[in-house]
Amino acid sequence: MTEAILLVGGKGTRLRPMTVHTPKPMVPAAGVPFLTHQLARARAAGVEHIVLATSYLAEVFEPYFGDGSSLGLHLEYVTEVDPLGTGGAIRNVASRLRSGPDEPVLIFNGDILTGLDIKALVDTHETSGADVSLHLTRVEDPRAFGLVPTDPNGRVTAFLEKPQTPEEIVTDQINAGAYVFRRSVIDTIPAGRPVSVERETFPGLLADGAHLQGMVDSTYWLDLGTPQAFVRGSADLVLGRAPSPAVPGRRGERLVLDGAEVAADAKLTGGTVVGAGAVVGAGARIEGSTVLAGAVVEAGAVVTDSLIGERARIGARTVLHGAVVGDGAEVGADNELRDGVRIWCDARIPDCAVRFSSDQ
Ligand code: GDD
Ligand code: MG
Repeated sequence: MTEAILLVGGKGTRLRPMTVHTPKPMVPAAGVPFLTHQLARARAAGVEHIVLATSYLAEVFEPYFGDGSSLGLHLEYVTEVDPLGTGGAIRNVASRLRSGPDEPVLIFNGDILTGLDIKALVDTHETSGADVSLHLTRVEDPRAFGLVPTDPNGRVTAFLEKPQTPEEIVTDQINAGAYVFRRSVIDTIPAGRPVSVERETFPGLLADGAHLQGMVDSTYWLDLGTPQAFVRGSADLVLGRAPSPAVPGRRGERLVLDGAEVAADAKLTGGTVVGAGAVVGAGARIEGSTVLAGAVVEAGAVVTDSLIGERARIGARTVLHGAVVGDGAEVGADNELRDGVRIWCDARIPDCAVRFSSDQ
């Protein structure tokens, strides 16, 4: 088992308005572009050759990761002119694969942070003799995912992407976004047009009697599709809850990158990351948050579960809770911004402009 496809394209990213110049896989999580964690975990599982299937802002990947040698990988890049969907993207890179027709090829969604035992998924694939094997995880609310019921032997009986009605919610097992395909199955995906592996390929394979095997694994798993999830994932990497060989520095309550300035009495907890050149003022308290490079958090600010974009400024005594502040935005002093608020890149909020609690 030596090669994998990483899907990092699509219609853009829900983080995009906050980090205009950075596609989601390149936004730093625990100090390095998120993709680094996936690449390093694949390498640690013995994968040597990875093809990055990209479409959106593809040109930022190659200058950063190059040929992959710094990670011990051989990396290739394939860019779609128009997004081909998950299945189309897989088919589109088939010519770059080196595996023989019966050999296994790993495929990963590019926005998942997980402790999946990659080798165990490949072992399951080989011992079951499946055409495709899928990592499944259990979630409380499966509606945003692909539902994957299995029989008592783990064989997949249906694939229901983003169920719409209560009757369709037949299981809490969902597609966790990591697959092993027998190489020859990839060649059966139609070329040159958009294909959804979830809506077309998997249901089609099942209808044709193919063997899809599920491996339920309850290890750490998070889809980083929203900024809030992204902040959570970054904190979990720093805390050591989410495993990755690529976290720079020791696991603990905080990760302060080189060139950041943190006041002696500032309190950083819960997996907070302070990026290079960022400044945290006296008495500030930051918990479970990501402060990107060059941002400033002024004295006495209280920041929890929030993402502060590059070069953004948070004024003195301002409270942020579950907030996303875009690159270059300025939030004045004595504001209070809560759950779900997004401040657009380069926007300005004056001093004392927004509060939720009393104005005393
Ligand atoms: N190259 C390329 N081209 N990649 C794509 C394209 C495309 O046209 N469309 C999507 N991708 C990549 C995304 O970048 C992401 O890494 C992955 O494929 C999945 O796409 P998402 O848009 O994030 O899908 P989702 O989160 O709604 O659902 C998927 O993931 C769930 C788990 O998080 C599905 O696979 C679900 O079945 C699954 O449960
Ligand atoms: Mg996703």
